[in-house]
Amino acid sequence: TKRVFSAFKPTGHLTLGNLLGAILPAVRLQDEADCVYAVADLHALTIKHDPERLRARTREAATLLLASGLDRSLVYIQSQVPAHTELAYLLESTAYFGEMRRMIQFKEKSANQEEVRLSLLTYPALMAADILLHRVDLVPVGEDQRQHVELTRDLALRFNRLYGETFTVPEAAHPPIAARVMDLTAPTSKMGKSDGSAAGTIYLLDPAADIRRKVMRAVTDSEDEVRYDPQEKPGVSNLLTLLAVCSGQPVESLAYEGYGALKRDTAEAVVETLRPIQERHTELSADPAELSRLLADGAAQAVERTAGLVAAARVAIGLP
Ligand code: TYM
Repeated sequence: TKRVFSAFKPTGHLTLGNLLGAILPAVRLQDEADCVYAVADLHALTIKHDPERLRARTREAATLLLASGLDRSLVYIQSQVPAHTELAYLLESTAYFGEMRRMIQFKEKSANQEEVRLSLLTYPALMAADILLHRVDLVPVGEDQRQHVELTRDLALRFNRLYGETFTVPEAAHPPIAARVMDLTAPTSKMGKSDGSAAGTIYLLDPAADIRRKVMRAVTDSEDEVRYDPQEKPGVSNLLTLLAVCSGQPVESLAYEGYGALKRDTAEAVVETLRPIQERHTELSADPAELSRLLADGAAQAVERTAGLVAAARVAIGLP
């Protein structure tokens, strides 16, 4: 069986982009693969953060992953498995400053900022460690993580060449549609937890009324012609994408006379997709001790599963 890993960074509340681009594809992989998913709280330390809020959002993200259907996978919190940081250092010692500096996300997030944390630069080495630790074949991610997974492959190949066959070289798996969900008010930008606008971002825990309002106010264009064309009609195409994925119909089958009806149906499809997730989130939140136990158990299993790989990497690179 194939092995799968992916992670989610709790820099904000999880969004519909996270759900459609990565979480639901990850849920589907559970039927055919051995799946491990983590909340990447260490990755959230790469930008300005508030400790209490981070702790709360880490738990919220873990709860939402389980509530979305990842309850047949191993789920844990990254920082509770020290192997991530240990392997990250070995990969920082494999990676070059030049290739880190050229990462698109680093360039975007560090632009026009005085206080760029060093961990923002080394972020992809930690992400590579997350993936390589689990010797996975597939990494289900949205389009924006493509370059980081490419770098992970490069580092794995380089390490294997320099120090002997140690890592499995993984591949990114992007969903056929919704690999890049756009901001509803700025449909040429990605819908994001921290960078997107609140009005243009649907959060998984948004009440139905907020979801409807955000979709009804989504930016479209002045044509009133419903057609899937991401270049010419990014707003309408984004709505069609949301409707297609949330209603389980192919985009080609969606025909509408005007934007009003398209928006109404899209809003209802999103509300219906999120409803069971929100209900399950409420149930799981009612028993915090059970969640803590589950996550501690997940971390313990992850420690056990990754010990061999870390030992092999240590020996290969020349540590005692
Ligand atoms: P993060 O936390 O920004 O996003 C989590 C996942 O959601 C996807 N995603 C989207 N997909 C479609 N449309 C969007 N608007 C959208 N926004 C986010 C992301 O592509 C991602 O798959 N560095 C990673 C977290 C990470 C990770 C890893 C991922 C840490 N270690 C190891 C995979 C493997 C990140 O910041 O994703």
